[in-house]
Amino acid sequence: MKSVFRDDCLAGRVAFITGGGSGICKGIARAFLAHGAKVAIAGRKQERLDATAKELADETSGECLPVAADVREPKAIEAALDACIERFGKLDLVVNGAAGNFLAPAAQLSYNGFRTVLEIDSMGTYNVCRASFDKALQAGGGVIINISATLHHGATPLQTHASAAKAAVDSITRSLAAEWGGLGIRVVGIAPGPIGDTEGVSRLVPAGVREKMEKGIPLGRFGTIDEIANVAVFLASDAGSLVTGETVIADGGQCLLGSGSMGLM
Ligand code: NAP
Ligand code: COA
Repeated sequence: MKSVFRDDCLAGRVAFITGGGSGICKGIARAFLAHGAKVAIAGRKQERLDATAKELADETSGECLPVAADVREPKAIEAALDACIERFGKLDLVVNGAAGNFLAPAAQLSYNGFRTVLEIDSMGTYNVCRASFDKALQAGGGVIINISATLHHGATPLQTHASAAKAAVDSITRSLAAEWGGLGIRVVGIAPGPIGDTEGVSRLVPAGVREKMEKGIPLGRFGTIDEIANVAVFLASDAGSLVTGETVIADGGQCLLGSGSMGLM
């Protein structure tokens, strides 16, 4: 997709993106690289990160560093941020996209299943925000983008764990924006509706349900990875300079009708 933004709108910026090895955050990494940023991508699987970093660097002629780290491990995150700062000399942009999800009725979900999703999504987001604040943003300012969802705008059956986790993510976005705004740090979020070209949607939306769900969305369709990446470029760039504490819903209007992103299942 051809970008509507100036090619160099992120030139000179350095980004650290969790979940950047796949899906939506791989798309955000691609878009940041294409607009001039240097990018480190983090996830648990080194092999996939290596392949993604090479693919994106070849595609954009940008610099992409793959660093393995589990967002549940503060020490591992600190080491990954050190690697990013050592390679690129600074850090300006952080995207928290790492997440885990699956469909499970609350009555059948194990205690550890609930805890695991909160640990990855909510605590992982806090861990990365905190470590990047300590290591770079506190001194130099920057932008943190937390990837949320619309599950908790209303109620989403089979998603008690992920809904609770993303509600906490939105709360972290608001609190940190309030606390850190004076240091030149903007903290924002993006809440995608269902994004059609992701593995998550192919796994979470049962066959035969997609068409019905799309009919229930005012714009009549699921979103694309590129559309979420565009929102991220806007928020990360100077175009978003007055936006903080807000989580931008990008869902084709699905929430307007009162259903969370999987609500029509
Ligand atoms: P995805 O491709 O499965 O991305 C999730 C990423 O998180 C993977 O790259 C995974 O890499 C990483 N990850 C998972 N657990 C991790 C951990 N403990 N530590 C570090 N990295 C970890 O999913 P996606 O669909 O693109 O979703 C991306 C974001 O958008 C998520 O925050 C999701 O909740 C949100 N979202 C997606 C949709 C959608 O329609 N797809 C809708 C609303 C919101 P490893 O496995 O290598 O660790
Ligand atoms: N249904 C119900 N429970 C599940 C489950 C499922 N599909 N998948 C995992 N769990 C439970 C496990 O049973 C385990 O609980 P237990 O110890 O009581 O049995 C708990 O969750 C942790 O599972 P485990 O596989 O050890 O955790 P993990 O840290 O390796 O994996 C997940 C995290 C479970 C979230 C895994 O799905 C994942 O890594 N996902 C990343 C990709 C993804 O989910 N993308 C979508 C983003 S929206």
